[in-house]
Amino acid sequence: MNKTPTIAVAGATGAVGREMLEILEQRKFPHGTIKALASPRSAGQQLPYRGGTLTVEPLTHESLRGVDIALFSAGSSISKEFAPAAGKAGCVIVDNSSAFRMSDGVPLTIPEVNPESIRNLHASASLPNVIANPNCSTIILLMALTPIRRAFGVERTIVSTYQAASGAGAKGMDELEAQTRDDLAGKVVRPGIETGGVFHEPYAFNLFSHNTAVDPVTGLNVEESKVILETRKIWNDPSAALSATCIRVPVRRAHAESVNVTLKTPATTAQVREVLSKFPGVRVVDDRAANLFPTPLKASGKDDVLVGRIRPDASRLPASATAADYDQPAIAFDLFICGDQLRKGAALNAVQIAEMLL
Ligand SMILES: NC(=O)c1ccc[n+]([C@@H]2O[C@H](COP(=O)([O-])OP(=O)(O)OC[C@H]3O[C@@H](n4cnc5c(N)ncnc54)[C@H](OP(=O)(O)O)[C@@H]3O)[C@@H](O)[C@H]2O)c1
Repeated sequence: MNKTPTIAVAGATGAVGREMLEILEQRKFPHGTIKALASPRSAGQQLPYRGGTLTVEPLTHESLRGVDIALFSAGSSISKEFAPAAGKAGCVIVDNSSAFRMSDGVPLTIPEVNPESIRNLHASASLPNVIANPNCSTIILLMALTPIRRAFGVERTIVSTYQAASGAGAKGMDELEAQTRDDLAGKVVRPGIETGGVFHEPYAFNLFSHNTAVDPVTGLNVEESKVILETRKIWNDPSAALSATCIRVPVRRAHAESVNVTLKTPATTAQVREVLSKFPGVRVVDDRAANLFPTPLKASGKDDVLVGRIRPDASRLPASATAADYDQPAIAFDLFICGDQLRKGAALNAVQIAEMLL
C-alpha cells in the first residue's frame, strides 16, 4: 500500500461520512488526494476539511478510478453497486453497510478484536479487497466482551440494547428532534414513516423495538440477528451462544447495552474490572459510591467504549449471600456499556482498519 494513498469517502455528506472526515483529520491520516463522494443531489456541496473545504462529487465508477482506499457509508445498495468492481480494480474498500459482512472470505474486522482477519483480504474471489465494518451494536458489545473472553472464556451472553437515533443516520436524528419539538408544542406526534420518515412508532418520549424487519419464524429483528451472527464470525466461533433484544430509545447519539455474560472460568469483580481497564479502546466508568456510570452523553463524541455497573449476576448467588460472597469468584456478570456508534461503531473503526492497511 502506497504510504500516502489516494482516498475516497463515499457517503461523505451523511452522519457516518461526516464523522469519517473529522476522524481522518483528527488522526492526521496520511493521504494524497482525498475525494468526498455522495449522491448527485449533493454535488458541489462544500465540506470542511483540514482548514479548507472538499467539494462533493457524485459517486460513480469513474470517481473511484485511481483510489487506493475507499471508505463506504452510503447504504447497502450503493455498496453492492460500486464496491465489487472497485475492489477488483485494486481499490481496498472498507464498507460500513451490511452488504458484505457475512460474505465468505470478506473480513469482518474490529482492529482491537480480530486484526488478523484482514490477512484474508483476497480470500473471496468475487469480492477481493473488500473489508466489512461490523454492525455498530456488535462492535460496542465485543469491545467489552472480548477482553473478558480472552481472560475467562465466555459461555453465554444476553444483551439488551438502548439504541440512539443517530444509528439511523441524519434523518433519524432529525426525526427525533422534530417530533420532540412537536410534542412539547402540544401537537399530536404520528410515526415518522407515515410522512416519509424513518421510524414506525412515534419517537418523542417513547421507545420501541428496533426498526428493522422481524423474522416471523425466529421472532428476531434484523439488528438482533446481526449481533448474533456477526459475533460468531468475528470470534470465529460458530457456536457462540447469544441472545439479543434491540430497542430504539429517544437518545440523540451513542448506544447503550445491558449485558449479562456467563464465563467459562469464574472470576472476581476486581479481575473483570482489571482486564477491561487494560483493553485498548475501553474505559471503565464504574463509581458505585457516586452512582456514576456510563451514559450516552458521556460516550458521545468519544472514541472509547465505556463500561460500568460491573457486578456478579445476583441470580447466580444464594438469597442468603453476604458481602463476602460478592468478593468470591463468580461465573456470571452484569455490565452496562455505552459507545458512540458513529465513532467506534462506524467511522472510527473504519479509519482504524485503513490505518492497519498502511
Ligand atoms: N449511523 C450509524 O450509526 C451507522 C453505524 C454503522 C453503519 N452505518 C451504515 O453506514 C451507512 C450510512 O449511514 P448514515 O447513518 O451515515 O446514513 P445517512 O446519514 O443517511 O447518509 C447516507 C449517505 O449516503 C449517501 N447516498 C445516498 N444515496 C446515494 C447514492 N445514490 N449515491 C451516492 N451516495 C448516496 C448520502 O448522500 P446525499 O447526502 O447526497 O444523499 C449520504 O452521504 C449505512 O449503510 C448504515 O447502515 C451507519
